[in-house]
Amino acid sequence: LRATAEPMTTPTLTRWLLDHTRQNPSQEDLEALLSSIAMGCKTISGIVQRAGVDGLDGAADTINVQDEQQKQLDIIANEVLKDALRYTGKVGLAASEEEADPMLVEEAFGSKYVAVFDPLDGSSNVQAAVATGTIFGIFKQNVECLVDDDDENMDDDQTRCLLNALQPGRSLVAAGYCMYSSSTVLVFSLGDGVHGFTLDPRSQEFVLSHDDVRIPERGPYYSFNEGNAKEWDAHVRGYLDSLQGVKGSRYVGSMVADVHRTLLYGGIYGYPADTKNKNGKLRLLYEAAPMSFLVEQAGGRCSDGRRPIMDVVPSSVHQRVPVFLGSSEDVRDLEAFYSDDL
Ligand code: AHG
Ligand code: MN
Ligand code: MN
Ligand code: MN
Repeated sequence: LRATAEPMTTPTLTRWLLDHTRQNPSQEDLEALLSSIAMGCKTISGIVQRAGVDGLDGAADTINVQDEQQKQLDIIANEVLKDALRYTGKVGLAASEEEADPMLVEEAFGSKYVAVFDPLDGSSNVQAAVATGTIFGIFKQNVECLVDDDDENMDDDQTRCLLNALQPGRSLVAAGYCMYSSSTVLVFSLGDGVHGFTLDPRSQEFVLSHDDVRIPERGPYYSFNEGNAKEWDAHVRGYLDSLQGVKGSRYVGSMVADVHRTLLYGGIYGYPADTKNKNGKLRLLYEAAPMSFLVEQAGGRCSDGRRPIMDVVPSSVHQRVPVFLGSSEDVRDLEAFYSDDL
C-alpha cells in the first residue's frame, strides 16, 4: 500500500491571514495585529498546560482592580499579551481586566488600533485544570491622539486618548478568544464571519478547524449559574422555569468555554444581574462586547435583557453588564420575559 502524501489542504492561520489580506488589502494591519495576538495566545497555552508542573497554577498575593484575588496565571498572561501587542507597533492604547487604567503604548502612541483584553478568563478554574481562555477586542482609535510637541498639552492629549477605550461593541473591528482546554482553539471575527483554528501540538501551528461558524437558531442547552437564582429578578426566574424539561443545563464557569459550546451547539448563556451585583458580574468592554460581536457575526443574538449589548456605551473601563447571548430564538424568548415591563 502506498500512502499518498496529500498536499496540506487545510490552511494554517498564517496562510489564511495571507489569503485574507490579499482579498482585503485595507485589513493588512489588522491581520498583523491578530497574528501577534495568536502568538501571545500560543505562549499562554503552553504556560497554562505546564502550570501544574511549574507550580504556577496557584493564587498570587495581589488583589486586582476588580477586587479579585489574582492568580499567578492572570498576571503572567497579562504580561504576555501586553508584550505581544506592544511590539506590533499597531496598538496605541490597551485596556486589560488586570490593569486599573488603560495603557498608552509609548512605542506607538498615535497608532491605529485600541486593544482590550481579558488575559485569562475563568482563572478560578485553573487549579482544577478546567478550561480557561483569553478574550480580546480591537477598536480603531477614533479620537486623534497626536503627540503634542509642547509638553503642557500632553496631559489633556492623554486624557482624550483614554476616551478611545470607552467604545461600544458596535465599534469593534475585530474580536475573538482563545480557549485553553482539551485542545487550544482560537476563534475570531474580522467582521466577515467567525472562523476557528485549532492548535496542532505537533507543528505548533493553528490550523483552520471551524470555517464560518453559524450558531443554530435554537439549541439544546441553557448555561447559567443557578446558584444565584434566588437573587435574580422575576423575568429571569420566569424564563429559566420555562426551560425546565425543555433544555439541558451546562455550566463550566469559564465564559470562554460556555460561549464556545453555545456557539457550536446553540442554546443560551447568561450571567444576569442579581440583588448583590445590579449589573451582573461580566465586564462589558473585554468580556461581554467581544463575545457579543462574535455571536452576532455567527447569526446569534445578544442582550442585557432590554437592549443589544453591542449598543451599550461604556462609561468606565471595568463596567459590568447583565449578559444573555446565544441562539437568536432562545435570546428572543428571554427578551419576551422582560418586554412586559418596558
Ligand atoms: P475572570 O476569570 O476573567 O475574572 O472571569 C470569570 C467570569 C467568567 O469567566 C465566568 O463565566 C464567570 O466569571 C463565573 O462566575 P461565577 O463563578 O460567579 O459563576
Ligand atoms: Mn478575574
Ligand atoms: Mn473573564
Ligand atoms: Mn480574567
